[in-house]
Amino acid sequence: MQEFVRRNIKVMVVDAPEEVGRQTARLTAEVIKTHDSPTLGMCTGGTAVPIYRELIGRWSERQFSFQSVTTFNLDEYYPVHPKEPFSYQHFMRDELFRHVDIPTAHVHFPNALTHDPEEACGIYEDLIRKRGGMDLILLGIGSNAHIGFNEPGTPRDSRTRRVTLDESTRQANARFFAALEEVPQHALTMGIATIMDARKVVLSAYGANKVEAIENTLTKDPSAEVPASFLQEHPDCTFVLDREAAASVLE
Ligand code: GLP
Repeated sequence: MQEFVRRNIKVMVVDAPEEVGRQTARLTAEVIKTHDSPTLGMCTGGTAVPIYRELIGRWSERQFSFQSVTTFNLDEYYPVHPKEPFSYQHFMRDELFRHVDIPTAHVHFPNALTHDPEEACGIYEDLIRKRGGMDLILLGIGSNAHIGFNEPGTPRDSRTRRVTLDESTRQANARFFAALEEVPQHALTMGIATIMDARKVVLSAYGANKVEAIENTLTKDPSAEVPASFLQEHPDCTFVLDREAAASVLE
């Protein structure tokens, strides 16, 4: 493993996607083990799959329990029914929650069935605040450097809100749907400021299609054009990357 710091971000480079999952799960397990009632921000997408597989493995070895863990997912398509197979609620149930001992009442998503997204997003922010904030947030990254569903152009002070998805994001995520037309146009997402409030951030990425996003994030000054670049201003942010995703920033 190669480790270095770029623009205030700790970067860990490993050989393969499975190892990205292992290292991210290790960092997550550390937070779970060292907090009495940890609050975690959760990501979805292909990158999350090896992370959650590894967390389930560690949980089944009884390294820790999810009984006292509370989760807030980063984002959800809007509008969407939680039972839809492409919904992030469905993804989280399938990939993590149904395999471990997390109490259902501890699991939170933005309300993607609401008729009043503004109110629902305000409620979500309040819930996170009342819970004392997130001890750790797990992130993936889009190939246009979005985090959550904060597309290029998102300001640093954004909070949980309804957003319109970029066409490139809809195309990238179409693989989880029967057809591109079925990918929703909108989503509810935590904002950049919501993410930055988490006490620790771990962003994971693998594969050649993330190389440009990682390069822009780790070499350019923070700006709304590269949403993940705001993470340079976070006091405790780690990137876990495979060699392919890190290709243009390797020392
Ligand atoms: C979606 C999610 C993001 C995620 C991104 C990357 O757009 N909203 O939170 O980071 O996809 O997904 P993947 O890991 O599948 O490349």
